[in-house]
Amino acid sequence: MKIVFKPANRQLAQRLETEHFILEPLGVMSAIRLMLPWRHDPEILMGVLTSPVPLTALQWIRRAPIPNNVDRFAFAIVPKSTGVPVGMHAVRLLAERRARNTVAVANRDWWGAGVVLEVRARLMTHFFTHAEIDRFIGSCQARNSASVFNYRRLGYDHVGTRLAARRNPVTGTPIDVLDFEMTKARWLASPLSDGSNAP
Ligand SMILES: CC(C)(COP(=O)(O)OP(=O)(O)OC[C@H]1O[C@@H](n2cnc3c(N)ncnc32)[C@H](O)[C@@H]1OP(=O)(O)O)[C@@H](O)C(=O)NCCC(=O)NCCS
Repeated sequence: MKIVFKPANRQLAQRLETEHFILEPLGVMSAIRLMLPWRHDPEILMGVLTSPVPLTALQWIRRAPIPNNVDRFAFAIVPKSTGVPVGMHAVRLLAERRARNTVAVANRDWWGAGVVLEVRARLMTHFFTHAEIDRFIGSCQARNSASVFNYRRLGYDHVGTRLAARRNPVTGTPIDVLDFEMTKARWLASPLSDGSNAP
């Protein structure tokens, strides 16, 4: 978590809608309330923080993608059908007019339902339209097949492989990381960018 003393960007941190979901912008406290229980979720721990073991509340808060709504944003993913958040998608603005994706779907009932495709498409169009960015980037562990598929289905290019970029801190096993990117021009020309449901 990084604290900054600038006014929140309300245009970027606004409530968004897709066909099946509301994307509710989170503040520090609402993000902590939503995400803190995930510090025990083995797949979120590994996929998002490369931690094979549960974290204390303080460790989780320090490392999790908590928004400040200046350069770090996070949205609760709320299915219209239930009104109960099932996960979150974060977007972090970076140097060189780039933004980075991070996602976690905590509710297993919603895995395999195309959640990431639908909400990421909406967020990309929103941030490309209202933020001063030219490209979205995303990285994931090479063995995180669902993440790899999600980037490829949205048309991201695979731009690099970082061999043994991370290490499982418990077992010491090296972890390869894949880098993906999508430019603004290519995204806005994609049929997926118009807010219609992802493929
Ligand atoms: C990453 C995450 C959000 C993906 O959820 P999801 O989008 O519902 O994932 P899905 O199960 O729909 O998988 C996405 C696609 O990958 C495919 N896939 C998943 N695992 C696969 C495997 N082992 N082999 C081949 N294909 C696989 C699925 O079939 C699906 O493709 P389809 O839509 O063509 O059927 C979820 O797994 C999660 O929250 N993981 C923990 C946190 C995490 O890893 N975040 C990402 C950090 S980079």
